[in-house]
Amino acid sequence: METLAAIEAENLHKIYGRLVAVDGLSFSVRRGECFGILGPNGAGKTTTIRMIYGFSPMTKGRLRVFGLTVPDELRDIKARLGVCQQENTLDPDLSTLENLIVFARYFNIPKTSAQERAARLLQFMALDHRREARANELSGGMVRRLIIARALINDPQLLILDEPTTGLDPQSRHQVWEQLEKLKAEGLSILLTTHYMDEAARLCDRLIIMDHGRMLVEGGPTDLIKSYIGRDVIEVGEPPAELVEYVRGRGLSYDNLASRLIVYSNGEEGLYHKISQEFCKSECVLRMATLEDVFLKLTGRELRE
Ligand SMILES: Nc1ncnc2c1ncn2[C@@H]1O[C@H](COP(=O)(O)OP(=O)(O)OP(=O)(O)O)[C@@H](O)[C@H]1O
Ligand SMILES: [Mg+2]
Repeated sequence: METLAAIEAENLHKIYGRLVAVDGLSFSVRRGECFGILGPNGAGKTTTIRMIYGFSPMTKGRLRVFGLTVPDELRDIKARLGVCQQENTLDPDLSTLENLIVFARYFNIPKTSAQERAARLLQFMALDHRREARANELSGGMVRRLIIARALINDPQLLILDEPTTGLDPQSRHQVWEQLEKLKAEGLSILLTTHYMDEAARLCDRLIIMDHGRMLVEGGPTDLIKSYIGRDVIEVGEPPAELVEYVRGRGLSYDNLASRLIVYSNGEEGLYHKISQEFCKSECVLRMATLEDVFLKLTGRELRE
């Protein structure tokens, strides 16, 4: 019987000399879902992804893609994958269109069919008007869109996207999100890494947050927010010492940054009113809890690398 999972990773390890970049990671991506891997710089996201598409051999662990085993069945796996790497891997001297046509050759796609697909994908990613432009003449946003288009040339069942919208303007990001949602609606499975928490919350059905090569949590974005943060958050600029005392005394969960107090309020009746009326000298904001709150709570606020 064919397994239902798009990806099954079990006890994955990647060791570079003395560095354990991926340290016993296990997760499974269901068919047709968008699964996110989040984590600070250096957490091991790209390393994990590279093992899945066979770019980098795993040191230890078990990895299956659509029931096929890495690395033994990589050829068959690659035929079902589209990969959008973190770096720009386009051929700078080829045109937008040629980049797609040349890539199609790796999959032995016949020329007429390659041309049809390329034309369709350029339209899909809103690049049709730049089809003759050389790749090194494209803007950053166009480059990312072309890399996604290229990853779709073999009509994959699983699309792997390593930070697909980094550096894009809001218009391009929204355009990419809409197209990814369309692909997902057609049944494509997606594995995504991103540093944009709003992107992950919007696109991912489930996600993991990892750090130092290990998984910290796994779940749906809404469930993670609910269980790790609560419903809403009160942020107070220049908080007076009495306020810190007050939230501590009430047993509330909070983060005390140098010039900002963040109180995880869980929709407690009247709390915002009391804080803003009695303790706020300047700024006091009530907002919805977000995935970014979860990310910072779990991975800390210190800079990486
Ligand atoms: N080829 C390599 N040789 C040695 N160390 C490596 C190699 N590739 C990655 N690393 C290290 O492995 C760790 C994980 O890197 P990785 O690129 O997977 O992180 P990431 O989560 O993708 O980070 P980012 O968000 O910055 O893209 C880092 O400490 C990195 O320096
Ligand atoms: Mg990376």
